[in-house]
Amino acid sequence: MKKHILEAFEKNYAIPQININGLIWIEGILKAAQENASPVIIATTDKNIPFLGGYEFILKTIKNKVKTMNISVPVIVHLDHGLSVEGCKKAVDAGYDSVMFDRSQLPIDENIKLTKEVVDYAHKHDVYVEGEVGAVGGSEDGMVSNLKYASVDDCVRLAKESFIDSLAPALGSVHGEYVGEPDLDFGKMQQINDILNIPLVLHGASGISDHDLDKAIKNGHAKINFNTEINIAWNKDLRQYLNNNPNDYSPQNILKSGIKTISTTAQSIMSKCSSINKVNI
Ligand code: 13P
Repeated sequence: MKKHILEAFEKNYAIPQININGLIWIEGILKAAQENASPVIIATTDKNIPFLGGYEFILKTIKNKVKTMNISVPVIVHLDHGLSVEGCKKAVDAGYDSVMFDRSQLPIDENIKLTKEVVDYAHKHDVYVEGEVGAVGGSEDGMVSNLKYASVDDCVRLAKESFIDSLAPALGSVHGEYVGEPDLDFGKMQQINDILNIPLVLHGASGISDHDLDKAIKNGHAKINFNTEINIAWNKDLRQYLNNNPNDYSPQNILKSGIKTISTTAQSIMSKCSSINKVNI
């Protein structure tokens, strides 16, 4: 993760993180990454781990798919919104490449202390760590929070005192669909980027304009997270397919249509992140 994200950081693009909800997500995302020569981060939220079969199962499934589909672009497996130190350690033990620890709702001193615990353990195993300050609003996989803009001082403290590899400062983005226009604080973003000079991570990217995503990349965001956009596209496709083919009971046909939509949407996400053709294959 470190090598790829630093390359993105230096060369002004972002590696897309796309969250998965089952096997067809893995297939569609890998297909798009390979066809577009883009590095990709496949992520599972802490809350979604039991539904997806547990850390080991998820990791083995992704690795096996990488092999059987002959994928040669970098594929990074990441824990999104790790809610406990134990959960992050389990992901590290299972072989995840990267973990996000998210206790940003706690007072900053506690957030720093627990994040550092995760960093100490993860770095011993050569695993990348992302921390968060403030709160991304909205809801994701049953995790609900109210938007809280990060303070610059807290960002500096978390980065310098916990030794995280990248920082997700909540600056107005929201998980799920936006009500009204997203209002990102680009002034703070620039300040944080200038002071810290480490890769930043943007959560809640579905619904943010290409123009704002571009500005975020120019202000140090080297990883951008998407979930809702792909789920909406998959959902629309599924309803349409079933309506248009009321007598088709073949799970393969129905699921294949979903893979195609997931792949096309992943390609559009890669284009928004400017990560297409960044890998020599
Ligand atoms: P969206 O669901 O809004 O795209 O956010 C995804 C995300 O930030 C994952 O952590």
